[in-house]
Amino acid sequence: MENFHLSISLVLLLLLPPLLQVSCTEKQVYIVYFGEHSGDKTLQEIEESHHSYLFSVKETENDAISSLVYSYKHTINGFAALLTPMEASKLSDMEEVVSVFRSHPRKYSLHTTRSWEFAGLQYEATKMNKEDLLLKSRYGKDVIIGILDNGVWPESKSFGDEGVGPIPKTWKGTCLSGDAFNSSHCNKKIIGARYYIKGYEAYYGPLNRTLDFLSPRDKDGHGTHTSSTAAGRRVNNVSALGGFASGTASGGAPLARLAIYKVCWAVPGHGKEDGNTCFEADMLAAIDDAISDGVDVLSISIGTKDPTPFNQDGIAIGSLHAVKKNIVVACSAGNAGPTPSTLSNPAPWIITVGASSVDRKFSAPVVLGNGIKLAGQTVTPYKLENRLYPLVYAGQVINPDVQKNLSGQCLPGSLSPSKAKGKIVLCLRGNGTRVGKGMEVKRAGGIGFILGNSEANGDELAADAHLLPATAVNHVNALEILKYINSTRAPKAYIEPAKTVLDTKPAPFMAAFSSRGPSTVSPDILKPDITAPGINILAAWSEASSPTKLAADNRIVKYNILSGTSMSCPHIGGASALIKAIHPTWSSAAIRSALVTSAGLTNNEGNPISDASGNPADPFQFGSGHFRPTKAADPGLVYDASYKDYLLFLCGNGIKNLDSSFKCPKKSPSMGDLNYPSLAIPKLNGTYTTVRTVTNVGGGKSVYFVSVKPPPGISVKISPPIIYFSRAGQKRSFTITVKIETSTVEKDKYVFGWYTWFDGIHNVRSPIAVSVA
Ligand SMILES: *[C@@H]1O[C@H](CO)[C@@H](O)[C@H](O)[C@H]1NC(C)=O
Ligand SMILES: *[C@@H]1O[C@H](CO)[C@@H](O)[C@H](O)[C@H]1NC(C)=O
Ligand SMILES: *[C@@H]1O[C@H](CO)[C@@H](O)[C@H](O)[C@H]1NC(C)=O
Ligand SMILES: *[C@@H]1O[C@H](CO)[C@@H](O)[C@H](O)[C@H]1NC(C)=O
Ligand SMILES: *[C@@H]1O[C@H](CO)[C@@H](O)[C@H](O)[C@H]1NC(C)=O
Ligand SMILES: *[C@@H]1O[C@H](CO)[C@@H](O)[C@H](O)[C@H]1NC(C)=O
Ligand SMILES: *[C@@H]1O[C@H](CO)[C@@H](O)[C@H](O)[C@H]1NC(C)=O
Repeated sequence: MENFHLSISLVLLLLLPPLLQVSCTEKQVYIVYFGEHSGDKTLQEIEESHHSYLFSVKETENDAISSLVYSYKHTINGFAALLTPMEASKLSDMEEVVSVFRSHPRKYSLHTTRSWEFAGLQYEATKMNKEDLLLKSRYGKDVIIGILDNGVWPESKSFGDEGVGPIPKTWKGTCLSGDAFNSSHCNKKIIGARYYIKGYEAYYGPLNRTLDFLSPRDKDGHGTHTSSTAAGRRVNNVSALGGFASGTASGGAPLARLAIYKVCWAVPGHGKEDGNTCFEADMLAAIDDAISDGVDVLSISIGTKDPTPFNQDGIAIGSLHAVKKNIVVACSAGNAGPTPSTLSNPAPWIITVGASSVDRKFSAPVVLGNGIKLAGQTVTPYKLENRLYPLVYAGQVINPDVQKNLSGQCLPGSLSPSKAKGKIVLCLRGNGTRVGKGMEVKRAGGIGFILGNSEANGDELAADAHLLPATAVNHVNALEILKYINSTRAPKAYIEPAKTVLDTKPAPFMAAFSSRGPSTVSPDILKPDITAPGINILAAWSEASSPTKLAADNRIVKYNILSGTSMSCPHIGGASALIKAIHPTWSSAAIRSALVTSAGLTNNEGNPISDASGNPADPFQFGSGHFRPTKAADPGLVYDASYKDYLLFLCGNGIKNLDSSFKCPKKSPSMGDLNYPSLAIPKLNGTYTTVRTVTNVGGGKSVYFVSVKPPPGISVKISPPIIYFSRAGQKRSFTITVKIETSTVEKDKYVFGWYTWFDGIHNVRSPIAVSVA
């Protein structure tokens, strides 16, 4: 969505001057990474060793000490320090050093929860039977979910601890004090809370404490929203401003514990609606702590669409260490869709999550003066009087100095109050934030606001809590309104007050903003892995922020509706916690495989999941499909992978030294040979063969048969086509041979198919993506 684009460009704008001027003396925070600690050094020895590296490139010992930002001591072996490019380059030449990279600022994947019921979970105790996933998993009891975000609003009822058992004995974390936050704000639900700001402060200087709390407390809302989506308690009688989406709010794993790691902070000189920023040096410190604190799952709704090699990607490096300790890591795919190859977090040890809709709408139609009624959506609590008002297109009421090509965009300051006053103004999406456009119409004295989708946004409507009567319409309806405005001397309109509508069809469909594959860093791995609800999600909110986050918005809410892959990621975090509660010994790869191979491909009309414009969606949008947690708890077979398998994968990716205790084989395996639950073959030339291994995690004795739907023009043979298991835990391997069958397959264009193992009970489906060289 534009919010994300804008945030990225703002950060780039901020970054450019120092980058362009980088001289040999300009200091930046770099991360110097050595792999993993061997465990034979004390914390003091580790810090001394990091100092000695720094000292070897610095003039004086004092200089070395003062330039150290973090020494990562628990699992991740490395440090963050202020270095000149010259010093960084000297360090990267040293033998023990794996990689040296800039501590980049990363962004959120910004953009009742009915979403869990929509995924097939039953939260009403009276309607449950003993097979229900929530009962079997005891609501995720004792599983610890770590959230890397911008903190938490601990007073929210979603984080209450009534009836929650004692803190798990495995927990070794802590609850840090700071601004408006102390140890009494943790409880048996929020069992840990920390914050990391040294990387941020090395870049921006000391935090302006009117912009953010120097503590784990959330002044934005995003972190409270993601935390409560993953593991919020059941709270009755909840709704957004204006009474929308009323009902019971619940996180996916309501009895799981939360460990809060605040790594994202307000950006000086920018509104909160532009998003916060999160530095890699801070995230690595948080992940290092989270691993030793004892989290079971990490949910990270942060990313970048800039392709980054795995050995220079802080989230990827931190997650690899986490996965080695069997921690499941779920990350957002990003909000840079619908453009292809815009993915964040493509590492194969991460579960990469796209975003899609639920079966709920906030219906607020526009009635035009000619009697035509067009569908729209909003969660604004404000209403018009029941009559027609003058209607204008923003381009007709702009100030004279506004660039023509931005004239319909309602960017701040662009509308002329003398022309817009008392009118309903139609603005188009593209540049600027959605809520910022509404604010601009209000500033200019408009009485109502219609937000029209661009072609790229299609039918996806994000319902926002605007500060005036408003609605959002799809692209076709936006054109219809423009045509009507053109067709008449005195166009008029009325916006009906919004109503919550349930069981809408089709659902799910993919969000236009959801970032797309193929991954440019490793096209041999099909990404994203899966999709989960991320459009108009209701969850808890910070009372130190407003529902639009705009500075001029003084409203305070306990629950708010947001859209983004930031919202879908904690759904997978919560679902992983439920599966982990049932299968505590499963590896993170097994849990990912279970989610991926059990995902659904159809919507609630029984048709294939579409994109936001109604066209069929493909695996570069939804991975293997929409998550189905109940089925994932009993997947039948899993594609497992170990830490060593990931190191072998990295050898194939040209990264040979991520772990000094491991040597790449002479002939590196191909990246596509990783035992992944999906198959991506870029630039197929002739025939491609690979082997996969499945582990029987279902009953004991079983027989599985394969069925294949090959991509058009491609053949896929699986051998053997039948596999027998005599007991649980047994592994069986099979060969997949993929071949170009016709010369008519378009080059460099991906085609899709799948193969499925089934035993009469379980369908273990893997998507296939192939492009021809
Ligand atoms: C924590 O802060 C609250 C006020 O927010 C205060 O009432 C309480 O005494 C403090 N607790 C500790 C342990 O400092
Ligand atoms: C801190 O932020 C506030 C609010 O934006 C601003 O008014 C103030 O000038 C800032 N202080 C400093 C020292 O930059
Ligand atoms: C739910 O909340 C609303 C508004 O806060 C209140 O008027 C209503 O009585 C509550 N209903 C129940 C069943 O608690
Ligand atoms: C709008 O047009 C101006 C000049 O005509 C150009 O510099 C600018 O990049 C354009 N902006 C967009 C959003 O197309
Ligand atoms: C407006 O959005 C377009 C497309 O995202 C982008 O290319 C352009 O640079 C943006 N213009 C401004 C002024 O932000
Ligand atoms: C409305 O009229 C303008 C100019 O007369 C034209 O450029 C535009 O394409 C028209 N829009 C529609 C949707 O008909
Ligand atoms: C395909 O493979 C053949 C034989 O190995 C080789 O000559 C040819 O250049 C390859 N084509 C492409 C497009 O890579």
